[in-house]
Amino acid sequence: MLTGMNRSLTKEHDWNPLRVEGDLPRDLSGTLYRCGPLSRESQGAFIPDIVQGNGGLVGVRFADGIITGAARILQTREMLEEAAAGKALYSPAAPKVANLISGLQGKLKNVANTHVIPQNGELWALYELARPVRVDPETLYVREETTLNGVIPNTFSAHPHRVEVRKALYNFGVVNRREPRIDLFELPDRGLPRKLGEVPLSYTTFVHDFIATPNYLVLFISPIRLDGQRLRLGLGEFKDLAHWEPERGSEVIVVPIDAPEKVTRFNVPPFHVFHFANGFERDNMIYADFCYYDNFWMEFEAAVGADTASPGGPLTRARIDVERGTFDLEHLTERKSEFPIVHPRTGGAEHRTVFSVTQASENGALRNSIIRLEDGKETSTRMDLGHIASEAVFAPRLDHEHEGWLLPLVYDPKADQSYISVIETESMMEQARCWFDHHIPLTFHGSWVAA
Ligand SMILES: [Fe+2]
Repeated sequence: MLTGMNRSLTKEHDWNPLRVEGDLPRDLSGTLYRCGPLSRESQGAFIPDIVQGNGGLVGVRFADGIITGAARILQTREMLEEAAAGKALYSPAAPKVANLISGLQGKLKNVANTHVIPQNGELWALYELARPVRVDPETLYVREETTLNGVIPNTFSAHPHRVEVRKALYNFGVVNRREPRIDLFELPDRGLPRKLGEVPLSYTTFVHDFIATPNYLVLFISPIRLDGQRLRLGLGEFKDLAHWEPERGSEVIVVPIDAPEKVTRFNVPPFHVFHFANGFERDNMIYADFCYYDNFWMEFEAAVGADTASPGGPLTRARIDVERGTFDLEHLTERKSEFPIVHPRTGGAEHRTVFSVTQASENGALRNSIIRLEDGKETSTRMDLGHIASEAVFAPRLDHEHEGWLLPLVYDPKADQSYISVIETESMMEQARCWFDHHIPLTFHGSWVAA
């Protein structure tokens, strides 16, 4: 039985006032949206794997000193289909035969549980194995799944990256078919979205994030071989069907945005990345900052299997010389952290400041800290002992990289309630907490939408 934060959401609601503790900054105005597997059952059947939990959104609105919060499970097409049938129809909650049938039909449940982004006035909930789900930003009810008029035929990863100078959002989708490949997409602020191209993969694998710079899209392919056929047929959980094969090495794939057919790819020693902070170009080199893992499983299980935030990896900078095909890594921190982010308007440009979440054991309990790394100097704020902080979404105040607020969603196990912590990023001091009167399960990622 699930306990603490892992329990499913018990209360869905519209925008209700939240209890505020501390002093809220007057100029914080907008809405924080967060996405996660808020429900771990389908029509009474348990979903054992958290990454396949049913997605839901949490919204917290800051408007003229009044703070309200909303929470909603996303009723995607497959969720409605299960409700109509009165039983679970999809892996991993459904019986094996039902999994086989839906797998053979090529059907998959879009659980929309990983990220939520604003996109041209809309709100999209994202799940890397499926297409974006359009959500009403006011009611948090699902509108529809979208292919963008056929531009996204299969999948759209949960980690699109915006390149500010190109005024466009970029993303990829892993298509784990018989001939696995990666689709690449460009969604400009103005003009039509388009598929930029395809990159074939030599084996079925798991790619969670990438980077986009003014001229390039860059993917790091970890040596994780997925037993795709068994996965599609629901014949085992992800952790049993993903194999770390370090002898393959990792692959670096660089795609020029303006000549996507001229792909450069080469192998480097094995490592894994879940999340990038940002990428940029300087002196004909590409740089990518990310949390580095020298293995996969230990960290993955710690990240998703326990009542904790991810312990993470050291923040690391990759330097890529595309012409020479060289690649080197420099660890920027010793401390392990995860969910690295930068100021949203820095996307694709050189950044000075990265924020991330870390965790240490203290007197037998876990203590989360939110870190600011700026010009090699770490400043952090410690959450209360035992409180569990999610990714800290950045709400900018100005264009300056570190002026704004970090807004992690935090679970207090003693109160069994969750709150948004408001951390001012210049001082890295917590200014206020905005409390829900109930718990909110783990959320993976979120976005700030300024008023
Ligand atoms: Fe992620």
